[in-house]
Amino acid sequence: YRMVDLIQKKRDGGAFSKAEIEWIIENYVTGFVPDYQMSAWAMAIYFKGMTTEETAYLTMAMVASGKQIDLSAIPGIKVDKHSTGGVGDKVTLILAPLVASFGVPVAKMSGRGLGHTGGTLDKLESIPGFNIEKSEDAFIEQVKTAGLAVIGQSDDLVKADKLLYALRDVTATVDIIPLIASSVMSKKIAAGSNAILLDVTVGDGAFMKSVEDARILARTMVDLGKSVGRETVAVITNMSQPLGMAIGNRNEITEAVNTLNGKGSKEFRTFIAELAQLMLSLAGESKSIEEIISHLDDGSAYAKFVAMVKAQEGDPTAFDHLTAELNVKYKVEIHAEKAGYIAAEKALGVGVLAMKLGAGRATKTDTIDFEAGVTLAKKVGDFVEKGDLIATLYSNKPITAELIAEFNAAIEISNDKIHQKEIIEIVR
Ligand code: URA
Repeated sequence: YRMVDLIQKKRDGGAFSKAEIEWIIENYVTGFVPDYQMSAWAMAIYFKGMTTEETAYLTMAMVASGKQIDLSAIPGIKVDKHSTGGVGDKVTLILAPLVASFGVPVAKMSGRGLGHTGGTLDKLESIPGFNIEKSEDAFIEQVKTAGLAVIGQSDDLVKADKLLYALRDVTATVDIIPLIASSVMSKKIAAGSNAILLDVTVGDGAFMKSVEDARILARTMVDLGKSVGRETVAVITNMSQPLGMAIGNRNEITEAVNTLNGKGSKEFRTFIAELAQLMLSLAGESKSIEEIISHLDDGSAYAKFVAMVKAQEGDPTAFDHLTAELNVKYKVEIHAEKAGYIAAEKALGVGVLAMKLGAGRATKTDTIDFEAGVTLAKKVGDFVEKGDLIATLYSNKPITAELIAEFNAAIEISNDKIHQKEIIEIVR
């Protein structure tokens, strides 16, 4: 083949054969197909889409571009989990130990923050000493002994996604269903778990802005998983406001630790418990919501979190530090300008602001300030009197009037009480 012909084929609305897709991915990974042609190819897909068959071929070609992990040495049904990204999304930090506390092994590879979305790896690294790099053998050993491990994706897993994702990020080709579906599912398939729970975020702070699009993405990924024998369930979740109260890194660890100690809000605990129920049922364990929540109250989920932190070299003396107040030079409290119900806390605006305060990267080489971020005091649907605390902004850089205005622009107060559900729909 010639890459230019294949780009033209998609540009003109054609569909690729399996052999064509395999050729493209193989030759991109070896460097024969350059980034500029791959960019044009991704943009052609952005405009012309891909059929279900093409998306499946692409996913499997991407899986084949790297190594696949064999988790069969770990007894039991291994369940993985993946979120398509959000703001304040600390779900893995709570869900993994909670599920593990029922004896279901969790072997998870997580990613770093991207744009305004936070990454579980960055959050974990705000725990002093925490090591996210493990050899495959050490990873499997930890899951066998501690019951869970959350590490970074090794370099040889789905090489095509490493390259393609970085390229998409800078060519405006991230938010397109077949490319997201193949990116997520190739990683999940290569990572070796038997079953997969997908958290498909929708709304202002997510890549999918409408429930209709989220539904198509969820359906595409669930079918891809099933087609290769992995039981897969997707949950469409609300990302129009940040998830929970903390947006940042160490403050999200604090919220996770508090939730693992029975201190989360009722809504947030129920949300996590519902996800845990789905993950457990994928592993063949049927548990009630009450039973699951009891593991947040009796310390068993927290014990799993502590076991993981210790197994990954996190400083055991750091546990007090995890829940201490954020240690920053600059702190600004945001108060309600009028009385009423919080009608919106736009996740994108709050996420971008947290990034600017230091909690995320604007370029790949930026370092993260683990102490920076936003901690909310109110959520959509809460009533505020004029002057009530809505949020606190934390940074080691001066917090300018412009940044404060950016936060305020993400907030709406109205006379009507709005209720936003966390779980919108389940796709099986
Ligand atoms: N998360 C991924 O892993 N890949 C995407 O393309 C989007 C979100």
